[in-house]
Amino acid sequence: MSQPPASPAISPRHTQGRVYLVGAGPGDPDLLTVRAAKLLALADAVVYDHLVSTEILALIKADAELIYVGKQESRHSLPQDGINALLVRLAKQGKNVVRLKGGDPFIFGRGGEEAEVLATAQVRFEVVPGITSASGASAYAGIPLTHRDYAQSCIITTGHLKDGSLNLAWDALVQPRQTVVIYMGLGALPEISRQLIAHGKTPVMPVAVIENGTTQRQRVITGNLSDIAAKVKAEGFLSPCLIIIGEVVSLREKLQWFIPAEPAPGGIENAIENPIEKALDKPAKNTATFAYA
Ligand SMILES: C[S@@+](CC[C@H](N)C(=O)[O-])C[C@H]1O[C@@H](n2cnc3c(N)ncnc32)[C@H](O)[C@@H]1O
Repeated sequence: MSQPPASPAISPRHTQGRVYLVGAGPGDPDLLTVRAAKLLALADAVVYDHLVSTEILALIKADAELIYVGKQESRHSLPQDGINALLVRLAKQGKNVVRLKGGDPFIFGRGGEEAEVLATAQVRFEVVPGITSASGASAYAGIPLTHRDYAQSCIITTGHLKDGSLNLAWDALVQPRQTVVIYMGLGALPEISRQLIAHGKTPVMPVAVIENGTTQRQRVITGNLSDIAAKVKAEGFLSPCLIIIGEVVSLREKLQWFIPAEPAPGGIENAIENPIEKALDKPAKNTATFAYA
């Protein structure tokens, strides 16, 4: 007789608990890893931020302590020091804690800082990788980040403004046959475009901006370095947005496959019914609006 699948080893209650730094993926709940889902069903406490969907939160054990720590400008959120202290405190109370983050915890997720604090406090921890938005949003937008004909390397960076200015390694970002992926760059997009052109990129270099990638609210705008900022502003794109710059963006025209529940006017139609898709597509998925917690 076959054995049931092993559950993640959760440390016993009588000892100090353990903290699991878990990536929730970019938005589509089906992109959660199996290990993350198992841990959510077992954890005593879940500490989560705003890029985690309600569908994923629904997988949490009913009596688990659920703690929202935000990290969204418009909502109350706990400062990073407070989050670090909270994780240590919960683990020292003997609780097994899932620290749930959008995407991957080690890619612009401050998972490294939290792991450092846990290590210093001698709290046991594990890291459960998630699909980062560069992978998820690019795949759902039909934009391969590398391609033998267009890009042999891919660089990811943040466009987050510090004190209103942007200090990126522009010379590294303008290398040929390279895709540049920018997280948190929506507000700085006009400056990013300006600087890339000033450092030698052609103004007609293709650019895509993906809002709410992988979710039923995904929107994608394509353009080039000289017009993308105006296009994004005209369409009123809001965070979370991922920016992809490079020749690979031109492949989207041929490779786009994902149709959100409310496709943009003129979007491609899903004419063929596929039994696998039908089985995967739980009824709620096409009717409910995806919402961030
Ligand atoms: C604080 S970073 C977190 C990144 C996350 N750890 C990851 O691996 O994707 C937040 C940024 O990630 C990007 N992002 C996260 N989810 C996204 C999504 N569903 N669509 C587009 N961009 C997303 C945006 O650039 C957003 O501003």
